[in-house]
Amino acid sequence: MLNIVIFGAPGSGKGTQSELIIEKYGLHHISTGEILRTEIENRTKLGLMAEEYICNGHLVPDRLIIDMLGEIIDKSTNKKGFIFDGFPRTIAQAQALDTLLKSRNDSISAVLYLSLEEQDLIHRLLKRGEESSRSDDNMETIQKRLAVYKEQTEPLKEYYLKKGELFKIKGNGTIDEIFENIAEVIDRLHVSI
Ligand code: AP5
Ligand code: MG
Repeated sequence: MLNIVIFGAPGSGKGTQSELIIEKYGLHHISTGEILRTEIENRTKLGLMAEEYICNGHLVPDRLIIDMLGEIIDKSTNKKGFIFDGFPRTIAQAQALDTLLKSRNDSISAVLYLSLEEQDLIHRLLKRGEESSRSDDNMETIQKRLAVYKEQTEPLKEYYLKKGELFKIKGNGTIDEIFENIAEVIDRLHVSI
């Protein structure tokens, strides 16, 4: 199985690159942000609980996210592997993911860290905010998301570096150029898919 974590700040290109990875490698895409936005749209219990956190740029509590993810992994019939997009975002989530995969005799193959300057992240998110309906793509919430990323999510770089699973990818350039670098890393991994 090929299990990829795509990691990076808000706007670093996780969703965009995930689509290309899925197309090439046939993985099951799990974007916790997208799942939560669908839950909000459908006015489910989980969606109603998550809405305020997302609109304010805060993280949804670990327990809710970890339970949600566990259910999705358990139900998945995909045999090739997963791409985790926007998860894990805290050390507790990273530990839960390790445990979940271990219980399936599985593990993370690589953590792809998309690295981009803050000014570029803000520019991309504001641009999307003009075109889309994401409630969190406004300046105030973007600043909050970036601060939360630095405080709660960035420490994961060290966590995965120590485990030898982190691969840094330059997050600027064209979408295709970035994907080429990603595919090079994936193709060098010794995993069968
Ligand atoms: P989530 O949906 O994960 O959002 P995010 O991490 O803030 O990141 P984005 O989706 O905005 O950016 P991205 O890195 O996917 O970049 P994209 O490809 O879209 O989470 C949203 C919220 O949900 C969180 O704030 C939190 O509240 C909650 N949540 C989610 N997961 C959670 C978890 N695990 N725990 C707790 N809470 C959780 O690209 C951005 C833009 O740039 C796009 O417009 C794109 O077209 C453009 N772009 C992409 N690549 C390029 C390029 N190479 N050149 C130019 N433009 C580009
Ligand atoms: Mg995304």
